[in-house]
Amino acid sequence: MKALILSGGHGTRLRPLTYSQQKQLIPVANKPVLFYAIEDVIEAGIRDIGIILGPNKEQVIEMVGSVEWDADIEFIYQGDPLGLAHAILVAEDFLGDESFVMYLGDNILRDGIVQHADKFGELNPDSLILLCEVEEPQRFGVADLDEEGRVKRLIEKPKIPPSNYALAGIYFFKPVIIEAAKNIKPSWRNELEITDAIQWLIDNGYRVEASIVEGWWKDTGKPEDILEANRLILDDIQPRNDGTVENSKIVGRVVVEPGAVVKNSMIKGPCIIGRDCVISNTYIGPYTSIGNSCEIVGTEIEDSVVMDGSKIVNAGRIVESLIGRGVRIRENDSKPKGHKLVIGDNSEIII
Ligand code: G1P
Repeated sequence: MKALILSGGHGTRLRPLTYSQQKQLIPVANKPVLFYAIEDVIEAGIRDIGIILGPNKEQVIEMVGSVEWDADIEFIYQGDPLGLAHAILVAEDFLGDESFVMYLGDNILRDGIVQHADKFGELNPDSLILLCEVEEPQRFGVADLDEEGRVKRLIEKPKIPPSNYALAGIYFFKPVIIEAAKNIKPSWRNELEITDAIQWLIDNGYRVEASIVEGWWKDTGKPEDILEANRLILDDIQPRNDGTVENSKIVGRVVVEPGAVVKNSMIKGPCIIGRDCVISNTYIGPYTSIGNSCEIVGTEIEDSVVMDGSKIVNAGRIVESLIGRGVRIRENDSKPKGHKLVIGDNSEIII
């Protein structure tokens, strides 16, 4: 079996972060979202991985290349992002006539895919989809199930959802899905929808089975999803101190990475302090991930994600925030008083 991991798309709902970063590279608990998908497919024993690339392809190649994976990874450029089923067509040569798992690189699945891959092997259907009960099904592809829990119909982002079962972005396919993708038309958003391709399988007498996701699943499409995924991952971390902690109080499960220095501060887990950070006279509260090489002085910050190389000095109290790379936040200690802002397009500030 092969794996096709998708790491393209413009990530418009995550602007301004996605003006400069491919959305699948945004860190959750200090690890790019994409890496969770790669780890999951390797854990399922898959060694042939194709990664679909979009606008920031060099970034993805560089980031993935910075780690030694126990797998062969091939990069496939999608060109225009014309939908998930289009990505399958672009990967036709890579896929050949093997079964494969398609994994959207901005999805995180707590318990990985091993049990679903086993089910795909046992039931041997033409496709196995993963379903997860959600509160806002209209944000996703939604499954209409019969009394026995079999898939009758799939609808992409329905206004009136027939159930609360969303399609998670992890799908198992036999090669017939390539034929399906060739036979569907673009949707209203001008994309070849994977949902329509799977519906084509159902309509043409192919067998589509469903597997219910038991642990949590997260699509990190929006800022609040990144924060939520960060909380969920941090909930499972094991404490470790590989840095230097001086005159500080550490409470709960906290990871301090090598080279980080924490002084005169209080850190309340679960949280993670990245490599080579300097944290001083600061309170870092639960559910916070501080990226590598950040400097945080005289500030309170909790329930937030701060990315690499940011510097936050005497900034008051920061909560539920997503702070990009190389950001500078500091107290205004000169006149005129007030907030002095240099902010990228489509940023959101709540003061
Ligand atoms: C895509 C799929 C949708 C699925 C979702 C999961 O949506 O089209 O069916 O539920 O991924 O993450 P998109 O992220 O393209 O809006």
